[in-house]
Amino acid sequence: MRAFLDLISNSQWDSGISFVGCGSATPQKVISNHQLGQRVDTNDEWIQSRTGIGERRVIGDHESLIDLATDAALNAVEMADWDVKTIDLIILATSTPEDLFGSAPKIQSNLGASNAFAFDLTAACSGFLFALVTASQYLASGSIKRAVVIGADQLSKWVDWDDRKTCVLFGDGAGAVALESSGDKSGLIGYDLKSDGSKGGCLNLSQSNIFLNLVQGATHQKGEYLPIKMEGKEVYKFAVKEVPIILGEILEKYQIKSENIDWLLLHQANQRILDAVASRFSIPSEKVLSNLKHYGNTSAATIPLMLDEAVRDHRIKSGDLIACSGFGAGLSWGAALFYWHGPY
Ligand code: COA
Repeated sequence: MRAFLDLISNSQWDSGISFVGCGSATPQKVISNHQLGQRVDTNDEWIQSRTGIGERRVIGDHESLIDLATDAALNAVEMADWDVKTIDLIILATSTPEDLFGSAPKIQSNLGASNAFAFDLTAACSGFLFALVTASQYLASGSIKRAVVIGADQLSKWVDWDDRKTCVLFGDGAGAVALESSGDKSGLIGYDLKSDGSKGGCLNLSQSNIFLNLVQGATHQKGEYLPIKMEGKEVYKFAVKEVPIILGEILEKYQIKSENIDWLLLHQANQRILDAVASRFSIPSEKVLSNLKHYGNTSAATIPLMLDEAVRDHRIKSGDLIACSGFGAGLSWGAALFYWHGPY
């Protein structure tokens, strides 16, 4: 392991970008499969066997997505042992901002990160990876030194809770990482991102087509969104096809063998997808990170939420190599290879 690390850190793949902190926050309210079965025609056995999900958390009274995202970011900043005034950039990956003009600036002000610029980025369940890569461009260019990347979503706002085909899958949550262009311990090895808008109809949270009269002879479109619509089988097929391809490509590009991966960290959408991808690379189940059982699919939050859990319970150790892939609406998908260099 150490020899392999030296090989990588001495090589041309040195991005100079380190992962130095992570954090997460989830709503208090837990909704079990059994409880959902009281609302729609479903049951724990069906949900667990098809998805691996046992329960999910939903933002309720006295909670907000911005609060969760702020707490996740704060936890990451505390782990990194940063003064908040030294943060240069905050990116909030979300499809469910509290304000369509952007929720990241509110998080910036909640944190007291007065020297940071902040913006939202939307790429659905791939959002965290897209935001991670975006932040890495600023860091690699030398224009900034410290960035916080947050993935946070409140899909419970947009799920049709009477549609058993979708409502059982999703939950709310937030996760964050602290990234630094320190140069001494390079973390991010490489990445790749992809989109295919031609298949976007498989998974939508689209606006309603309601037009209202504005003035004589003119209408305007009402700002309103429809609940999440999904063709589950198509999304499933897309994930089990494209994730192994993109992961295989970056492993090959950086000449890393799958047996050298310490952890497979995939977007937590469905346990069967995780298992299928792992088996394509002969990665044993002990190396496949999963917390679907407790949170379901929290969209942009799943990857940093899972990372934080595994770092804080000491499964992931400093120097571990993580192969990561996110996928979802757009359609969009991506992969990244990185070392964890946080203090745990
Ligand atoms: N409880 C009980 N039965 C359910 C159900 C539920 N929650 N949801 C669907 N069913 C029923 C269907 O009505 C269907 O019944 P029928 O055969 O009588 O018509 C049967 O179960 C099979 O439905 P199907 O949609 O074919 O199931 P599936 O094996 O494809 O599993 C998903 C459905 C959604 C779990 C699966 O397609 C999936 O995980 N897709 C990926 C979704 C995803 O990850 N989206 C987010 C990506 S970021």
